[in-house]
Amino acid sequence: MILKNFVVFEGIDGAGTSTQIKILQARNDAERFFFTTEPTDSETGKFLRKMLKGDVKLDPRTSAFLFAADRNEHLYGNSGTNCGIVEKASSGKIVVSDRYLFSSLTYQSVTCGEELPRMLNSTFPLPEILFFFEIDPEISLQRVDSRGDREIYEEVEFLRQTEERYKKVVDEYEKLNTGMRIVRIDASKPIEEVSAIIARELGI
Ligand code: TYD
Repeated sequence: MILKNFVVFEGIDGAGTSTQIKILQARNDAERFFFTTEPTDSETGKFLRKMLKGDVKLDPRTSAFLFAADRNEHLYGNSGTNCGIVEKASSGKIVVSDRYLFSSLTYQSVTCGEELPRMLNSTFPLPEILFFFEIDPEISLQRVDSRGDREIYEEVEFLRQTEERYKKVVDEYEKLNTGMRIVRIDASKPIEEVSAIIARELGI
């Protein structure tokens, strides 16, 4: 199922999704949008952030369950300021999320295999548009390093595997004809070029 008015940005760490969301937030017509992220700012999301920093060590499968639980809260719950996006999208806001289930299908499939993340995410709605930021992990890690501390997944070999998986997952969705529009972006391009592509695709 496609959730109308729902737009998702995906890519490995340092691909530039957050930068592009900031550019949208600075627009004059920003009130048309609701900007959100995964992990969310609910308690589940906060716990996931501790795991990402390396403060809590979890079995990789436990993380896969938690990312899916946080996603359910993001869609349907109200335990965080950015939760309940299905209702927001239905009320006419364009919901733009930095990461969604494609992150689980890639990152968690690298850490605990493909089957569990696929199963846990099979019932969630798909966005109307998926922007996939493609980038060489060497370039993305340079960007990550220029902004400070690395998280546990921010390591070149891991990101290389993740980038590969992302490409496979997006290829698969392209063949599936789900009705979701997929826009692949060369994220090594200058920031302004990428934001122009996004604005054009969003028709804004
Ligand atoms: P990121 O989006 O880079 O946020 P920040 O810029 O605040 O660090 O970090 C989120 C991390 O969580 C990123 O490494 C990907 C990971 N992640 C998963 O592994 N699975 C998921 O389902 C989601 C949503 C994120």
